[in-house]
Amino acid sequence: MAVPAGVPSPWQASASGKVILFGEHAVVYGQPALAVPVAQVQATATITPQAAASTPEGLETAIWIEASDLQRRYRLSDAGPNDPLAAAVRLTLAKYKSSGRTAPPASLAVRVSSTIPISSGMGSGAAVCTATIRALSSFLGLPLADAEISALVYETEKLLHGTPSGIDNTVIAFGRPVYFVRGQAPLPFQAGAPFTLVIGDTGISKPTRLVVGDVREAYQRDPALYSALFDAIGQVVRRAYALIESGKPEELGPLMNENHVLLQEIGVSCKELDTLVTSALQAGALGAKLSGGGRGGNMIALVLPSQAAHVAAALQASGAKRTIVTEVK
Ligand code: MEV
Repeated sequence: MAVPAGVPSPWQASASGKVILFGEHAVVYGQPALAVPVAQVQATATITPQAAASTPEGLETAIWIEASDLQRRYRLSDAGPNDPLAAAVRLTLAKYKSSGRTAPPASLAVRVSSTIPISSGMGSGAAVCTATIRALSSFLGLPLADAEISALVYETEKLLHGTPSGIDNTVIAFGRPVYFVRGQAPLPFQAGAPFTLVIGDTGISKPTRLVVGDVREAYQRDPALYSALFDAIGQVVRRAYALIESGKPEELGPLMNENHVLLQEIGVSCKELDTLVTSALQAGALGAKLSGGGRGGNMIALVLPSQAAHVAAALQASGAKRTIVTEVK
């Protein structure tokens, strides 16, 4: 629909979901991990200037946040300090002010929506905040580099996850596959040859914060065992990265299986994830593992493109609530 003359067109931005290819959990403890964006699921934010409300005291400007998926509409000034969306808006406005510009005079609505499943390891929180910061900074005429957006989203991730490694905000803000080590500059990369993943959703939502917290407790009870498991995962990630870089993704299957077993030993798999992993392998996947925080959420299977539909059907027959086929490039 054409925007009528004189009405400012809305500012819109999107951000993809993500999956962790290798290295979840161990990445919180300093090991490397690999993550890729999943463009089939997206968060979108739209900034729409609003007319200032007329009140007995005069014209009142306000910033509204509208999260249609959560059926919530509220004023920024009413949002608590732990609201990640409000934090995304406040951080962007603070950046704007610190750049020496004057505060934006307008009333505006920040509308967010997302097709990324919530609490399922696909980065929905980071994607919604990335889209919000991108749309608002573009509305404000404040150019932000991907690394700056990632750093702001990391602040919002801390509200959701407590001790995030930073991999979710990085892969989502950069919108590219990344090799990530906590505390180091991320290494965006391009796969030496493309490969296909089938993502299977258990339909069980499990906040990452809870599982990361459980792993932290288990680590504190037995640091030697958990450090050895994290080191073993780190080795798998390094070998996987070498194969991806050198264009041999078809050899990644055994490493995915190995990573899944290590995640089982850490205690973050569950019956439903194990069932989907077994089902994918039986249907001919080259390898499969849980992806993200675990205890629910998603798993991924590496497949030849010709097998993707068959593996997706097998996953659905084994209880997957939804499947996504995606190509990593
Ligand atoms: C979540 O996508 C990945 C975890 O390793 C947590 C983190 O890195 O913050 C489970």
